[in-house]
Amino acid sequence: MITDYSQALIVQEVSPRDGLQIEPTWVETEDKIALIDQLSLAGFSRIEAGSFVSPKAIPALRDGEQVFTGIQRQPGLIYVALIPNLKGAQRALEAEADELNLVMSASQSHNLANMRMSCEASLSAFAQIVEFTRGTGVRLNGSIATTFGCPFEGWIDEDRVLQIVDAYQQLGIPGITLADTTGMANPRQVDRLVRRVLQRVSPADLTLHFHNTRGLGLCNVLAAYEAGARRFDAALGGLGGCPFAPGASGNICTEDLVNLCDEVGIHTGIDLPLLLKLSRGLPALLGHEVPGQLAKAGRNCDLHPIPG
Ligand code: COA
Ligand code: ZN
Repeated sequence: MITDYSQALIVQEVSPRDGLQIEPTWVETEDKIALIDQLSLAGFSRIEAGSFVSPKAIPALRDGEQVFTGIQRQPGLIYVALIPNLKGAQRALEAEADELNLVMSASQSHNLANMRMSCEASLSAFAQIVEFTRGTGVRLNGSIATTFGCPFEGWIDEDRVLQIVDAYQQLGIPGITLADTTGMANPRQVDRLVRRVLQRVSPADLTLHFHNTRGLGLCNVLAAYEAGARRFDAALGGLGGCPFAPGASGNICTEDLVNLCDEVGIHTGIDLPLLLKLSRGLPALLGHEVPGQLAKAGRNCDLHPIPG
């Protein structure tokens, strides 16, 4: 079988949110803004620029207002804010976020750890948010964390995930993200679930959010792409992780993903040399090495001089 790689893959950058939320070192507001402004020139269609959650839960992103109002927005680029509740929606609209990413976990235990509420309470908060945002023009996306596995409960019933997709759609939330919060997905599972979800959600409205916690991140991307998914979250340098999930680690790395696509011939429209430059600046910004591999190895075409 020859795989058809002719359809573009849409990369959505989440390092300013998922990437920075777990960083122990405070990143200055002006540095966050500078990072987002640089990322805005790299060809992304969406950048998750921050979250409007409790500053006690995620102190690293407590400056969401200043970030959203300080960035230089590029036309057509959608700046997304993650929110857990109505208060988050109010703050995000005030700060003129283009899209609200509403997050709930498939598993009760992770939703309790992360959002300090039951899934039912999250869904009723989402109903309030749909009402509150009606007529404002802001876009809504619903993320399902722990879709492919929960660090507390293990395997998640696929029918449970489909029920949540249905619940989001009934509420009037058009965008759906299937999130592998702690990197528990495998390619066969991804293939099966993506095909089932695509019977309900169009490829334009479906995002896959993988973490590389167990090294399967890019395998899962290819499996999802081959099953018909087209939109993928990724973080510069492979930063990221949920502070309320034990053992969480980074998102799939944006520049590693773009390199994969470039090498196999899937169009992304992303400026890889710019990403590499930005990624190589992360250790100085954060005070530690980052997991991404391409920034260390260089591209295949970055050749070395023959030894004399
Ligand atoms: N933005 C800012 N502050 C908020 C807020 C929001 N979206 N939602 C609640 N708060 C404040 C309340 O005003 C209250 O403040 P006070 O103590 O000064 O009175 C405090 O947080 C507690 O409010 P409460 O509604 O009781 O929240 P909680 O303590 O039960 O926490 C969440 C619930 C959802 C706010 C919190 O768990 C949260 O922000 N989780 C997000 C975690 C996250 O971002 N994880 C990673 C991304 S998936
Ligand atoms: Zn994540």
